[in-house]
Amino acid sequence: MDGDLNSPVADYIERERERFLNELVAFLRIPSVSADARYKDDVRAAAEYLCARLAELDLKASIEETAGNPVVYAESEQNPDRPTVLIYGHYDVQPPDPIDLWESGPFEPRIADGRIYARGAADDKGQLYAHVKAVEAYRKTGTPLPINVKFIAEGEEEIGGPSLPAFIDANLERLKADAVVISDGSFFGEHPSITYGLRGIVILEVNVFGPKQDIHSGMYGGAVDNPAMVLARMLAQLHDENGTVRVPGFYDDVRVLPDEDRRRLANLPFDESGLTAGAGVPELGGEKHLPVLERLWTRPTLEINGFTSGYSGEGSKTIIPSHANAKLSMRLVPHQTPETVGTCVEKFLREICPPTVRLEISGGHGARAALVPHDSPPMQAAARAITKGFGQEPVFVLEGGSIPVVVDFHERLGAPVVLMNFGKGDDNVHSPNEKLDLDHFYGGIKTSAYFLREMAAG
Ligand code: BES
Ligand code: MN
Ligand code: MN
Repeated sequence: MDGDLNSPVADYIERERERFLNELVAFLRIPSVSADARYKDDVRAAAEYLCARLAELDLKASIEETAGNPVVYAESEQNPDRPTVLIYGHYDVQPPDPIDLWESGPFEPRIADGRIYARGAADDKGQLYAHVKAVEAYRKTGTPLPINVKFIAEGEEEIGGPSLPAFIDANLERLKADAVVISDGSFFGEHPSITYGLRGIVILEVNVFGPKQDIHSGMYGGAVDNPAMVLARMLAQLHDENGTVRVPGFYDDVRVLPDEDRRRLANLPFDESGLTAGAGVPELGGEKHLPVLERLWTRPTLEINGFTSGYSGEGSKTIIPSHANAKLSMRLVPHQTPETVGTCVEKFLREICPPTVRLEISGGHGARAALVPHDSPPMQAAARAITKGFGQEPVFVLEGGSIPVVVDFHERLGAPVVLMNFGKGDDNVHSPNEKLDLDHFYGGIKTSAYFLREMAAG
């Protein structure tokens, strides 16, 4: 066979573009926000929608209950003489807030300028759905699938994936595969990319309690400590002026970056201005003595994700608030664990907290960083597929974000994990006006179709 897709498959993808998009619209309409219990039924509805679309492809598809949101699982007939690919994605999405900043409803998909705008368009419904439609192109044209295909989609990725490890352990035989494929990331600038490492994460929530209720700041101010002020002072001690975390033990397990890796990062076609523009900041920050890509991909971080206290309505209100809250997360690099990092941050906060308030810290769950070999045969198959699907060779990158299950797939299934990214850096994932370029949706479908064939080629 020549380099192109067998033409019925390619023709089908071309011909069915519009319907594929309409189906994605229907998927995106379902507000499957995992972080917020009010959307519980919608999360299940998204699982059911996905399951039904998989079942239509003559796959054995089912909703699998877990301690949390359901897993959607599907598989084609399994021929033991062929390789098997397990395709993973997540059907849950981040909360849409702040809603005011969206130009159209986060769950009312809008197509404009060759893009589809909606929460989950890129992260991850659109990317996951591209794989579903690639399998459809084989099924509905009577073209035998070149390999065995399995799908697993979870509904808790955006809350740390708490239920999936147990599901994997209980289904090791069923999930067995020669490669796990995930499309849940983005191009590197203008270049298609394959991700061979992700940072891990650990999450903490900090509550500082002061007066038993909000009190008059004139009557008590000066003699009663202000929880907002106390928490702000504590948080301000977490970094030094160079952006380095000053929590004792925080970097204990961080290894020195090998020269080879440093060179590889330095050689990537990286455009700093894209990052500055993407964030919309006047200039970049962080540990400025390190190259930007090292800061993003090879250094652990400690962030405040939310910080609330006191009065935030119109005008002013002269109170000492009774309570202050901070949501923190730390990004981890290889060899760090959520437990050790979470513990040392918690210990430090307890040490610096004054006795004038009561401190509560919860959380501590998370996932380790993942680093996978980038020369495995499935990686190479993915590189060939991307080159055909997007007309350009991929670059191999690391990623600052986290996909908790990657480590579990790697360790529990012992399968190489291939992260081939269909999104773009400017997709506004986790932000208002999330979108996916339609070219990338269709390019992803083609790439996935090529990948199934390239995996058969070994
Ligand atoms: N798809 C992202 C991870 C990602 C982000 C990959 C950017 C590539 C580029 C994933 O859905 C995600 O957002 N993960 C969370 C995990 C967390 C909630 C435990 C993250 O990284 O914040
Ligand atoms: Mn994602
Ligand atoms: Mn996400």
